[in-house]
Amino acid sequence: MKEMEHRYPFLRACRRQPTEYTPVWLMRQAGRYMKEYRSLRKKYSFLEMCKNPEIATQVTLQPIKRFKLDAAIIFSDILIPLEPMGVEFEFAKGEGPVFHHPVRELKDIERLRVIEPEEEIPSLMEAIRMVRKELEGKIPLIGFSGAPFTLASYIIEGGHSKNYILTKGLMYKNWPVWDALMVKISEVLLRYLNAQIRAGAQVVQLFDSWVGCLGPADYEEYVLPYSKKVIDGVDKGVPLIHFATSNATLLELMKRAGGDVIGVDWRVDIGEAWARLGYEVAIQGNLDPVVLFGPADLIKREVKRILDRVEGRPGHIFNLGHGILPSTPVENVAVLIDAVHEYSSQIVQERR
Ligand code: CP3
Repeated sequence: MKEMEHRYPFLRACRRQPTEYTPVWLMRQAGRYMKEYRSLRKKYSFLEMCKNPEIATQVTLQPIKRFKLDAAIIFSDILIPLEPMGVEFEFAKGEGPVFHHPVRELKDIERLRVIEPEEEIPSLMEAIRMVRKELEGKIPLIGFSGAPFTLASYIIEGGHSKNYILTKGLMYKNWPVWDALMVKISEVLLRYLNAQIRAGAQVVQLFDSWVGCLGPADYEEYVLPYSKKVIDGVDKGVPLIHFATSNATLLELMKRAGGDVIGVDWRVDIGEAWARLGYEVAIQGNLDPVVLFGPADLIKREVKRILDRVEGRPGHIFNLGHGILPSTPVENVAVLIDAVHEYSSQIVQERR
């Protein structure tokens, strides 16, 4: 396993080892901006696609076949473990996820099941095994989960939220209930990530997509201990990427919660973010997803700016600052990936 790692620029960068060029992958790289995805999606619902290992495998590989990406990410969703825990939801058209029975009281939390992911979500583990086989060792595969706060916010609010009034209300006014919920979710998530690793995930990413709605003091008190518990419990044989959006004020605290790589969004200068984190963690990011709307010159200029800011230091993984947007022009993704590879190999050669 360790020897194998040395072959992959992406895994080397996660461990802050030098690479010939900067590895790149894109959050949400499988999805609606690709016509291959849209045509499959006409036949199945999104959740059907996630739950069918053959289709999930096919969708995971769609961007890999088309672009020179340095990693694949398994096609699934952060909400997938919630259903077997006993929280049902649906994707309502144009609305995102909707939970008809939100979890807000102790009795709701007591009903949540702490699942055995291998037994209750076997389709995901099967998809991971199938993708590994199809990839034939060409690039590594990333597994993922949501982070405790982000998942708690969905099930408390009943869907996406603007101000997180119910989530923060529970946190501030009823700590024992908040704690009971976060303890349960954390236990599920660490089992869920370890199960993905046993199935073959070579890196895992924790998505704390909505935690940026909290200030640092609240993050430290109400979130950090639970994210840390998940991260501490994940098999240390594989690198972990800890990502959040709007996390400019939370970087040091996210690092304290853990992760081999910290993912940053585009609202921070990546050079400053890395200096603040200290160079004993790797960093991932952080092109504004809207830059992919072009033109090509703009994309190249912004890639160069980010690569210049990290100064050729080992341990940078290029990514967007958040998921790729559904209406992104597909040809610009190739422009981005080529620009990252070309310009970063030039930097490496100049430094020799
Ligand atoms: O990166 C990948 O290619 C793997 C697939 C992946 C999806 N969701 C597929 C998806 C990953 C890693 C996610 C993570 C995810 N899911 C997050 C964290 C990342 C982030 O963007 O912050 C969140 C918050 C979710 C929850 C979620 N899933 C929402 C809010 C929505 C609806 C909004 C939207 O984008 O439509 C989804 C649906 C979803 N997840 C789609 C895809 C491809 C679109 C489904 C469709 O085809 O209609």
